[in-house]
Amino acid sequence: MTDLKIPYVNLSAQWQSEKKELLPIIESVIASGTYVGGEVVDEFETAVAAYLQSPFCVAVNSCTDALVLGLAALGVRRGDEVITPPNSFIASTAAIVHLGATPVFVDVLPSQSLDPALVERAITGKTKAIMPVHLGGRMVDMDQICEIAKANNIAVIEDAAQSIGSTFNGIKSGTFGEVGCFSAHPLKNLNAIGDGGFVCFKSQELAEVVRKRRSHGLIDRNTVEMFGYVSRLDAIQAAVLTFRLTRLEATIKSRRTNADLYRSLLNPDFVFIPDDDPREQNSYHTFVVQVDRRDELIAHLTSCGIGTAIHYPIPIHLQPASKFLGFGEGSFPVTENQSKRILTLPINQHLTEHEIQIVSQTVNSFYER
Ligand SMILES: Cc1ncc(COP(=O)(O)O)c(C=O)c1O
Repeated sequence: MTDLKIPYVNLSAQWQSEKKELLPIIESVIASGTYVGGEVVDEFETAVAAYLQSPFCVAVNSCTDALVLGLAALGVRRGDEVITPPNSFIASTAAIVHLGATPVFVDVLPSQSLDPALVERAITGKTKAIMPVHLGGRMVDMDQICEIAKANNIAVIEDAAQSIGSTFNGIKSGTFGEVGCFSAHPLKNLNAIGDGGFVCFKSQELAEVVRKRRSHGLIDRNTVEMFGYVSRLDAIQAAVLTFRLTRLEATIKSRRTNADLYRSLLNPDFVFIPDDDPREQNSYHTFVVQVDRRDELIAHLTSCGIGTAIHYPIPIHLQPASKFLGFGEGSFPVTENQSKRILTLPINQHLTEHEIQIVSQTVNSFYER
């Protein structure tokens, strides 16, 4: 055992670095008495829309609700099919299931990204949307996805929960399709101090539907145009996010520097790191490698004080909740194989170069000894 601690995330370091500026902002929201909706939320929507270069952005309580509301706005309903990968966080598929639609899984590439060739083969007369997931900040090939969607007249809804600030051909993730859904969960690169999310649109009409549905379907204080939900973003979270948005590019820069460092230090004989596509800029929400003897390595890193994670150890099609879909072991071999080999190393913006060196040396020496 060791006294060394290299945490996987470090939210207290983030708070220490911003407390002086952020506390008065939070205090002013509390003093204003407007906690739900209001100008502070409007300001965040304007700021994040400008950052994404998206015409319309609606703040919501989570990416999960962004996905449900976004799919519903696209008209996805019972009997429809939505194509999505089985190696995402459960919420991508849950949103499809909540609407009574059928998730149609397609397997992924060695990089863990949705395989466009398989997407094309999975299209049927019932396919209503394609939901690529930019896992960990790595961009799905949006040239191919958009081309396939256009040729088949199918909508694209991006699960950009993990990819705020990633780009493909210089265009921000979440702005390729009709709908782009983002999470502001505390672990994300743009994080709230609780749950949060937002959803962006090309069409004002779709944005307005979601704007109403996130708040009971109200169009004024007393008139309900459609039955809705309570999926709003709190004013405090909006204020925190507007502030943190000003630091997002610096956060991404640090994470990209950390990723470069790992690439130069980890031994490629033992650690597979998928290359970035030259067309993408990965924001590195996570740094996922693929290794043999993964669980043994995790135990070793833990004993050395190094925090890690797995995104995700159980593929969605093998979750107990997915039993009714009828899949089993072997249904999506690439995803299943990766689920046993993937390991997420710490990459947060508070890590020092020395800490990345220690993590890399500890991984390398585990295999080299
Ligand atoms: C890929 C993906 N989709 C959706 C979500 C759901 O986001 P939220 O927790 O904001 O509902 C997450 C959250 O981690 C995610 O990683």
